[in-house]
Amino acid sequence: MSEAILTADTLKRHYEVGGGPFSKPATVRALDGASFALEPGKTLAVVGESGCGKSTLARVVTMIEPPSGGTLAIRGKEVGPDGASKDRDLRAMVQIVFQDPYGSLNPRQTIGQTLMEPLKLNRPEVSAEERRKRAADMLEMVGLRAEHFDRYPHMFSGGQRQRIAVGRALMLEPKILVLDEPVSALDLSIQSQVLNLLIDLQEKFQLAYLFISHDLSVVRHLADEVMVMYLGRPVETGPKDDVFAHPRHPYTRALLSATPVADPRHTRNRIKLEGELPSPMNVPEGCPFNPRCWKATEECREAFPPYEGERHRYACYHPIEE
Ligand SMILES: Nc1ncnc2c1ncn2[C@@H]1O[C@H](COP(=O)(O)OP(=O)(O)OP(=O)(O)O)[C@@H](O)[C@H]1O
Ligand SMILES: [Mg+2]
Repeated sequence: MSEAILTADTLKRHYEVGGGPFSKPATVRALDGASFALEPGKTLAVVGESGCGKSTLARVVTMIEPPSGGTLAIRGKEVGPDGASKDRDLRAMVQIVFQDPYGSLNPRQTIGQTLMEPLKLNRPEVSAEERRKRAADMLEMVGLRAEHFDRYPHMFSGGQRQRIAVGRALMLEPKILVLDEPVSALDLSIQSQVLNLLIDLQEKFQLAYLFISHDLSVVRHLADEVMVMYLGRPVETGPKDDVFAHPRHPYTRALLSATPVADPRHTRNRIKLEGELPSPMNVPEGCPFNPRCWKATEECREAFPPYEGERHRYACYHPIEE
């Protein structure tokens, strides 16, 4: 196993909402204790239902928002409470690509300007000529052509715009890329092209990916490790093949049962989860999944289960044995 480039230890991000003259503010526990590591050239995929804290995790790892608890360390260097605002090299090390290729590019900037901007802001010592050259090289690297340099975002398709967003994210030569549903907004045929580009770039630059996706077939294709989140907490983490073949947490099992499998001999009985996903403002006591879990007993309502296992870890008092 190679050395981790980023480690997170019980990382948390809470938000205070509401509150007024007659009411107390409530706490949204959007991210409530995530521990994991990212390695160069490897992909950790994060999966879980809408609202489980995936984008919050993305913002904390990218240092857009500071954690409200726990620690984040990059190359062994801990990110302080004011994020990386004072350390431009640390900040450059982690970049993000968002889901929406339409909203994430400035419509008034040409593609060339978009690609040159991070250098202009963060590497003022790079000459204008060199900046232009690096942007032109990047355009080619992400599969676009030299004549695209002076065009505006509206002249591109969704897939091309996402290529541009990836190119911009790579301009400062980061080591870690956070990809928050990077292909979910694209047509199916375009998705695989962009995913293949991401795979090539990872290989070329030995990038560590934190890859957020609700699409388990994409995760199966791309991930090395998988982290399953439920209400702000990882409930199961491990090597992709292990987690997909032998899910231990009932929530993971339910999530996987909802997607078709390639080999019909392994069809799983579909598990329909009872009840709604609770709000992160009102996380159930004990294991947060207990109100919806068919295996829940009294102890599940008392305390969050300790993590079991070594590389394949899960937090459950009654793991699935099969
Ligand atoms: N700034 C904020 N203030 C208050 N609550 C927030 C804030 N940001 C996120 N939340 C809440 O935190 C929870 C987690 O949100 P988050 O966007 O991280 O979920 P997600 O897993 O990315 O969901 P999706 O799959 O829909 O993108 C949600 O309940 C959301 O409403
Ligand atoms: Mg999200």
